[in-house]
Amino acid sequence: MFASLAGRSVVVTGGSRGIGRGMAVRFAEAGCRVLLAARNAAEADQTAAEITAAGGTAFGFAADIADPDGATALAAEAERRFGGIDILLANAGIFPSARLGEMTPADFDQVIATNLRGTFLSVTACLPAMRRAGRGRIIVTSSITGPVTGYPGWAHYGASKAGQLGFVRTAAIELAADAITINAVMPGNIMTEGLAGIGPDYLRRMEASIPMRRLGSVADVANAALFFASDEAGWITGQTLVIDGGQILPEAAPDA
Ligand SMILES: NC(=O)c1ccc[n+]([C@@H]2O[C@H](COP(=O)([O-])OP(=O)(O)OC[C@H]3O[C@@H](n4cnc5c(N)ncnc54)[C@H](OP(=O)(O)O)[C@@H]3O)[C@@H](O)[C@H]2O)c1
Repeated sequence: MFASLAGRSVVVTGGSRGIGRGMAVRFAEAGCRVLLAARNAAEADQTAAEITAAGGTAFGFAADIADPDGATALAAEAERRFGGIDILLANAGIFPSARLGEMTPADFDQVIATNLRGTFLSVTACLPAMRRAGRGRIIVTSSITGPVTGYPGWAHYGASKAGQLGFVRTAAIELAADAITINAVMPGNIMTEGLAGIGPDYLRRMEASIPMRRLGSVADVANAALFFASDEAGWITGQTLVIDGGQILPEAAPDA
């Protein structure tokens, strides 16, 4: 039986949609107080309002986590509202597609700035509050794409997601003395607004390549994050958890 997380303060980057929204909902259901951030203020507020209407505690906040000022403002807002930060879900990310030859330096920089630098910025912005408290939980949303697999059009994305894991491993050592853990979830193909935008052909092909024969849900990822955030996971740091319905396992294409 896991101890309750009720009352813990949680910051979710990219919390307005998709996996981040699923995490915000799940942590609010667990009794946490949630501050969810996205660039689009209206969407962040809308998601927070839906969580509140369902009986949870959530607030929206407009912040660009690729911008140091955005990350700092987000952490300051969490401290103002909650008096501290117990859990950071560094989840915001983008996955535009561009093949090598057409990918511009600006395309590459934009993905790295959001996914990798944004992870660094949100972690460092939330650190002072966690260090003061002498405890903390950080869960980074990486991916199977990059650390384990590749996909045409996502060389920059894969580099950013693999880079997050390198960041996590060294951060884990540096933060251990403050009883702050940092771990990463590595989702496979999760049915989100962002993934739906890639199109039905992609979704069909992914579904066929997953031994469990379905795309993941945002709750599948949120539940793993909830485990890393638990008191009981306090001696687990610098680790990764693949959540993919078995997609990376087959040596040959799964039987039709
Ligand atoms: N869906 C999948 O199958 C899958 C698989 C593996 C890993 N992931 C990872 O999971 C994370 C979420 O993906 P998703 O599918 O849920 O994407 P999504 O549905 O497109 O949602 C992305 C979220 O991130 C926010 N965001 C994007 N750029 C931001 C920025 N610069 N500052 C603040 N917020 C920002 C978006 O809001 P705004 O646009 O308003 O800023 C939105 O809330 C990403 O890190 C992605 O790499 C997803």
